[in-house]
Amino acid sequence: MKTIFSGIQPTGNVTLGNYIGAMKQFVDLQNDYDCYFCIVDQHAITQPQDRLQLRKSIKSLAALYLAVGLDPEKATLFIQSEVPAHAQAGWMMQCVAYIGELERMTQFKDKSAGKEAVSAGLLTYPPLMAADILLYKTDLVPVGEDQKQHLELTRDLAERFNKKYNDIFTVPEVRIPKIGARIMSLADPTKKMSKSDPNQKAFITLLDDPKVIEKKIKSAVTDSEGIVKFDKENKPGVSNLLSIFSILSGISIEDLEKKYEGKGYGDFKADTAAAVINALQPIQEKYYSLVESDELDEILDRGAERANAQAGKMIKKMESAMGLGRKRK
Ligand code: TYM
Repeated sequence: MKTIFSGIQPTGNVTLGNYIGAMKQFVDLQNDYDCYFCIVDQHAITQPQDRLQLRKSIKSLAALYLAVGLDPEKATLFIQSEVPAHAQAGWMMQCVAYIGELERMTQFKDKSAGKEAVSAGLLTYPPLMAADILLYKTDLVPVGEDQKQHLELTRDLAERFNKKYNDIFTVPEVRIPKIGARIMSLADPTKKMSKSDPNQKAFITLLDDPKVIEKKIKSAVTDSEGIVKFDKENKPGVSNLLSIFSILSGISIEDLEKKYEGKGYGDFKADTAAAVINALQPIQEKYYSLVESDELDEILDRGAERANAQAGKMIKKMESAMGLGRKRK
């Protein structure tokens, strides 16, 4: 069976972008692949975090993984810092990566722009991400479009390591969804929907109240044409809502365009909001029943155990390939 690995940072609220671009894919894939889904808390500390809030977000993300429909009997769910091999392999991959290629990462450029003090971890974040993936002999990595460049670097680092040391890594493929690979901000549809956006109206979180969702979608920026048509370049706001509506309702974009022909944006927005509320309601119910449960801790313990066993084997191979430590009889 082929292997899948993906991760999400436990930083604040999980958005509809994270759900559509990543989590929804995870659920679809868990039946056909050996899956590892990680809560990447070590990635989160590349930027300042409040310790209590971070701990809360870790648990919250774990509960959301289950609430969206991941089955811990099928997929391994775990916290990155509970599997020390990630930091160990991350260091080795840092020694394989070049500073120049890390400085060229657009996410590094965006996140460091205009800041006086940027952690070294923000620069060396992609080799840690490569380590996450390569430790599990991952074949496929389902992510949103914004992670594509990091995946290309992961492939380069894997190939470089294989050539320079020993051919131990599987070179992974990226899997980006056809629709919804980049859900846009509701306040500025030329920008990605992001959980760190200071404007609360820009994103919908998986735990938003129905009333809040209605308000946010009603005030979503569109255009003054009043035509419901998918045209990313000229109608980014409407196209974004169409993507969200289509994915969550299962109705094709074409059918939605027909349904709202000549009707303006009022009904279209109200029905989009209803589709989002409908999709999130069962997730929220399950979330609240899980987040404080002992079951959640047990699942994370089991996940860490399974991940440790798998990743531990690869660490030994990496150390041996690089000549670290001593040869044991
Ligand atoms: P993160 O936490 O920023 O996002 C988690 C996942 O959500 C996707 N995503 C989106 N998809 C569509 N539209 C959006 N607006 C949107 N915003 C976020 C992201 O593409 C991602 O798939 N570096 C990663 C975490 C990571 C990782 C890994 C991922 C660490 N190690 C190994 C895969 C494999 C990140 O910061 O994702």
